[in-house]
Amino acid sequence: MKRFEGRVSIVTGASQGIGETIARELAAEGAAVVLVDVLEDKLERVARSIAEEGGRAEGHVADVSDTAAAQKVAEAVVAAHGRIDHLVNNAGITRDALLMRMKEEDWDAVLRVNLKGIFSFSKAVVRPMIGAKYGRIVNIASVVGLMGNAGQANYAASKAGAVAFARSLAREVAARGVTVNCVAPGYIQTAMTENLPEDVKKAFLDFIPMKKFGLPKDVASAVKFLLSEDASYITGQVISVNGGMYM
Ligand SMILES: NC(=O)c1ccc[n+]([C@@H]2O[C@H](COP(=O)([O-])OP(=O)(O)OC[C@H]3O[C@@H](n4cnc5c(N)ncnc54)[C@H](O)[C@@H]3O)[C@@H](O)[C@H]2O)c1
Repeated sequence: MKRFEGRVSIVTGASQGIGETIARELAAEGAAVVLVDVLEDKLERVARSIAEEGGRAEGHVADVSDTAAAQKVAEAVVAAHGRIDHLVNNAGITRDALLMRMKEEDWDAVLRVNLKGIFSFSKAVVRPMIGAKYGRIVNIASVVGLMGNAGQANYAASKAGAVAFARSLAREVAARGVTVNCVAPGYIQTAMTENLPEDVKKAFLDFIPMKKFGLPKDVASAVKFLLSEDASYITGQVISVNGGMYM
């Protein structure tokens, strides 16, 4: 029997990058996967391709920061499947600038997607999870939320917030069979990082003890562990997946 057979997993930001890989791997291990994203075409393409490979996947177009939309997705999933076992809060954006040049709308946009998005979807799923006395929530944080990064005050604050949110919710729901943890990736090769200038990429590489960038599958492995029965006594924790970049 596959590890996640019978489980229902919501993955936000699943149209590409880390979220897409997490969704594909959960489906490959038997979960029925609910993909959430704002990029409708890509979302449908990923859901279709998972189905073609024999997995169970459905796409829901929603902005994670829209609490009403999150509630609608959760209600639709419970109506269709009768349960929500996993939530992976992965959707995230960057709007980098040094603080002196950072526009208020860049601050607001990053906090809205990266932090309010976690609030919206966690709030929408926590009631059914508590009702079932079972649930796993994983927030995708970032090394930057732990160590800080010049030019990313908005992003770093949102990711530190993701960790504090997870630890707080973990305390609220620990006795109800629901765990809440974070995975904090370092530099992972995706669309989010590929457009960085070459000198910035080189500076990162110099700073990473393993001397290589991570891949989405490296993050997915840690997420799957936290969603699995092997992690059933782990809550309120952060697993770093960063090649030793921050320890
Ligand atoms: N790539 C890295 O090096 C790295 C490092 C640390 C943390 N992370 C985090 O991992 C997560 C995934 O990053 P990625 O590199 O795959 O990025 P990505 O840009 O390739 O993918 C992010 C996905 O989120 C979706 N999204 C953005 N705003 C949304 C919204 N409002 N509602 C719903 N979906 C939305 C995008 O459409 C996209 O599909 C993010 O939270 C990011 O902050 C990435």
